[in-house]
Amino acid sequence: MLNEQQKMSYHRDGCLVLEACFSGTEMDRLKAAAAKIVDDFDPNSSRSVFSTQDQSLSRDDYFLSSGDKVRCFFEEDAFDDKSELKQDKSLSINKIGHALHVLDPVFAAFSHSAKIKEIVQALGTRQPQIHQSMYIFKQPKIGGVIRWHQDATYFYTTPISVITLWFAVEDATIQNGCIQVKKGGGETPLKEQFTRDKNDNTALRVLENTPWPQDEEALPLEVKKGSLIVFNGLLPHFSAPNISDTSRHAYTLHITCASSAYAKENWLQAAPSKL
Ligand code: FE2
Repeated sequence: MLNEQQKMSYHRDGCLVLEACFSGTEMDRLKAAAAKIVDDFDPNSSRSVFSTQDQSLSRDDYFLSSGDKVRCFFEEDAFDDKSELKQDKSLSINKIGHALHVLDPVFAAFSHSAKIKEIVQALGTRQPQIHQSMYIFKQPKIGGVIRWHQDATYFYTTPISVITLWFAVEDATIQNGCIQVKKGGGETPLKEQFTRDKNDNTALRVLENTPWPQDEEALPLEVKKGSLIVFNGLLPHFSAPNISDTSRHAYTLHITCASSAYAKENWLQAAPSKL
């Protein structure tokens, strides 16, 4: 379904936007499935995640053991001084991760579709395997910033092979925090590697000391609901906080090639799922 020009521009830019790739109905199905997960989620079950004691430690544990689970993560600004949710939980969740593509039937069927496999293979990932899925809410007013990074930092393989699929479940605009990328940045050397050791200590190792682009230099990818943004693991990208009144829901998949060696230092070690 991809033409030669699309393949060329992906290899040149490290990024490809496929507008109207999916129907509104398909996106609404994902949205409803995510809403159900949040509905079933007891916000008190993970309140310790944001307790004042050992905050980072407990959050890390909740995060680090989520590779093969479906878990809800709160926005940083979701709680008041007394650790109470400031607003309804449906407007307080930052994301759901990280095994929706395995454990949730709606996300599993969508993620393993022939269409997605065809796109990923056409762009050069011959033996695609899904490592991670996330449903990102980017809530109105409190949806936080995602700093500049490259996805290969979190999915290190030799050779580097991770490819990210970013599905716009809702319209993404500059105001609600759309993805912004480094123009022509698909061959930027990998700057950082996120590692996890056997004691579950994590670290961000600096591999390359060149600065990130300035935010003003970035190319904002404003896309309509149903669009798919595909980018490679070396493309620097970030997203600004959501300062608008509308959410910016997105679903993402991180896929590597089975013929590349997946680093044992990667934080996520759950068995990948063949696409
Ligand atoms: Fe990313």
